[in-house]
Amino acid sequence: MNRFAGKVALVTGAAGGIGRACAVQLAGEGAALCCVDYNAEALNDTMAALGDGNLQKLALTCDVRDEAQVADTVKQCVDHFGRLDALVNMAGTLRFDMAVDLEVKDWSNVIAINLTGTMLMCKHALPHLESSSGSIVNAASTAAHAGIPYGIAYAASKGGVLAMTRSIAMEYAKRGVRANTVSPGHIATGMTNDITFPEEADIDFLFQRTESILPPADPKGVASMVALLASEEAFHITGQDVLIDGGTLG
Ligand SMILES: NC(=O)c1ccc[n+]([C@@H]2O[C@H](COP(=O)([O-])OP(=O)(O)OC[C@H]3O[C@@H](n4cnc5c(N)ncnc54)[C@H](O)[C@@H]3O)[C@@H](O)[C@H]2O)c1
Repeated sequence: MNRFAGKVALVTGAAGGIGRACAVQLAGEGAALCCVDYNAEALNDTMAALGDGNLQKLALTCDVRDEAQVADTVKQCVDHFGRLDALVNMAGTLRFDMAVDLEVKDWSNVIAINLTGTMLMCKHALPHLESSSGSIVNAASTAAHAGIPYGIAYAASKGGVLAMTRSIAMEYAKRGVRANTVSPGHIATGMTNDITFPEEADIDFLFQRTESILPPADPKGVASMVALLASEEAFHITGQDVLIDGGTLG
């Protein structure tokens, strides 16, 4: 498939598991790629994973919590490639806390990365996406739908992403920009592998709540849906969320 020939995609969280898989998928379908993350070292690994070939690619380090950095990143991308067709927001963070122990600074950091960072990227990309009749795919989560024990900041941030993305979809439907979310269940990545649980947490209960019925998916299982939603094949789909959870939520 060459659904993104001549198109430019910007992927945040491109140094992480799902973001990197999205970058590889979109590049494999012909997109020029702007890969964005605040982890410069891991971002280099993503650039290497994209290979050399004829691919046009650009790596930009950016902390999505910082509006000046976000504005500059989108500008550099458009200055370099001349256009922007797809924005894929995968930058994110997860932490577990007992509700009574969650500190405001930790709550605020989760909201700043997952929700405010996604909003800032959308805000600065939308004028360019309007010019190209492009689209947005944001990362929500099953936690936005069903909650997750010990993850109140994470679930709240992802619920915000769902509602915000639907609102962007409504505001921009007549202006030619589509916006959708994907809601993965448990996917093995750095986010889910390097996690600390509070001592009092009932981990068995947590795993019961997040276990899929289908065999576990890897990040490619998310990337293929992200590419479909970002592509013109999904021309009549906006304001929607796709659960990619192997039946976890039934
Ligand atoms: N893995 C899962 O089970 C799962 C489930 C549901 C939703 N998600 C969502 O999918 C997205 C991708 O997750 P993943 O599993 O690939 O995680 P990951 O930890 O592998 O990747 C996340 C990436 O975001 C980057 N990042 C974090 N804070 C940033 C910031 N302030 N500025 C720029 N980059 C920043 C990290 O450096 C990392 O490369 C996230 O939004 C996550 O919440 C993941």
